[in-house]
Amino acid sequence: MTSVVWILNGPNLGRLGKREPEVYGTATYDDLVAACMAAADELGLAVEVRQTDDEATYVRWLHEAADSGVDALVLNPAAWTHTSVAVRDAAAALSAPFVEVHLSNPLAREEFRHVSYTAGEAVGIVAGFGLDSYLLALRALADRLRG
Ligand code: DQA
Repeated sequence: MTSVVWILNGPNLGRLGKREPEVYGTATYDDLVAACMAAADELGLAVEVRQTDDEATYVRWLHEAADSGVDALVLNPAAWTHTSVAVRDAAAALSAPFVEVHLSNPLAREEFRHVSYTAGEAVGIVAGFGLDSYLLALRALADRLRG
């Protein structure tokens, strides 16, 4: 059976490419989706990629993941990483494993980014490698799902 992995992106990530390219690079959100789909093909995963700027929608997607047969998740909660107990609580209620990813390395940036509400619930974190953060997370989850 093909494992199902959801990649859930938080606020402002839809503006990749236009948004602070010196921090987040020049690849667009469409490039991110295409790179994840190509990796999914290579790894034999059924991947779905979503992005929202609405925190309630993000929490609802986490509930949906918890209630459906999603095998693993890659979460980039973006700014909510550092602010949202609601996202953290919804992530904590997942039974499927998730990897937290960031394009940049929040620990090398402003102090308010040094706190992650979600990281303590993750099986691992990949940060600082741009789009490759997502691909490394998918590879790690594919290995884990294979056992
Ligand atoms: C980010 C890092 C966060 O601090 C920031 O708020 C983002 C993007 C990243 O992928 O590097 O929006 O999650």
